[in-house]
Amino acid sequence: MTTYLDATEAPLKNTGQIKLYSKEDFDGMRKACQLTAGCLDEVAKMVEPGLPTSKIDEFVYEYGRDHGAVPATLNYRGYPYSSCISLNHVVCHGFPGSKPLRNGDILNIDITFVLDGWHGDSSRMYIAGQPKRAAERLVDLTHDCLMAGIAAVKPGNRMGAIGAAIQELAERERCSVVRDFCGHGLGRLFHDAPNVLHYGHPDEGPEIRPGMIFTIEPMINLGKHHVKILKDGWTAVTRDRSLSAQFEHSIGVTDDGCEIFTLSPAGHTKPPYVTE
Ligand code: MF3
Ligand code: CO
Ligand code: CO
Repeated sequence: MTTYLDATEAPLKNTGQIKLYSKEDFDGMRKACQLTAGCLDEVAKMVEPGLPTSKIDEFVYEYGRDHGAVPATLNYRGYPYSSCISLNHVVCHGFPGSKPLRNGDILNIDITFVLDGWHGDSSRMYIAGQPKRAAERLVDLTHDCLMAGIAAVKPGNRMGAIGAAIQELAERERCSVVRDFCGHGLGRLFHDAPNVLHYGHPDEGPEIRPGMIFTIEPMINLGKHHVKILKDGWTAVTRDRSLSAQFEHSIGVTDDGCEIFTLSPAGHTKPPYVTE
């Protein structure tokens, strides 16, 4: 049985209970999340063939430092970078590196800033140069999946409604939903209850209540859903080496739906990110 508790009275750890946050807590989350989203906007101007992804990671660190924030991933359970950058068949938790981006690469950039103790977690897909049609289609579909999941966030629904909406859309398009990673509650903690599955049934999971804060971050593969972890202990790739894509928002449940904390200040949604 799921229990819910007032976040102000909760211990600062994951007890499996679902924390319900106040208006003031939403204000704190909005600030952290807007910083992350602003950084994701800036990064859109950098992505092009020839750029080593380590340059993006350096930019993320400096952007956080200049705005009074730290990247939550840096040294998190031994993770060594300020961002996760996952190219092509990498599903998630890819390491930034010195290898230059190539024309047609698709990449997920996942950033979490901690600002005044609040975690702003979001990721988007980017495309270096000109994508292949299948890659572009996967990126579009994955963004649609995220938004379909968000549309299912309403008090009274169960958390399973989110995963069901995502799975239905992905599989209708003959793609698959990664099972091994999920969204998560967050706030003063990076990863908290509940787990947010990106597949399942509408009658499963805890009830969605106002004040909940969590991420939705579907990973969708062009091929089968299976993943494996490389020897670095972090990088998750598709077993069949098919392309994978992901988008992530941090959201807060309101009385009649939800607020997306990590919406782009520049109005970006999915690539191409047209800038002046
Ligand atoms: N930002 C990722 C998420 O969406 C988590 C990355 S954890 C790390 O939950 F250790 F890999 F950085
Ligand atoms: Co997340
Ligand atoms: Co993330």
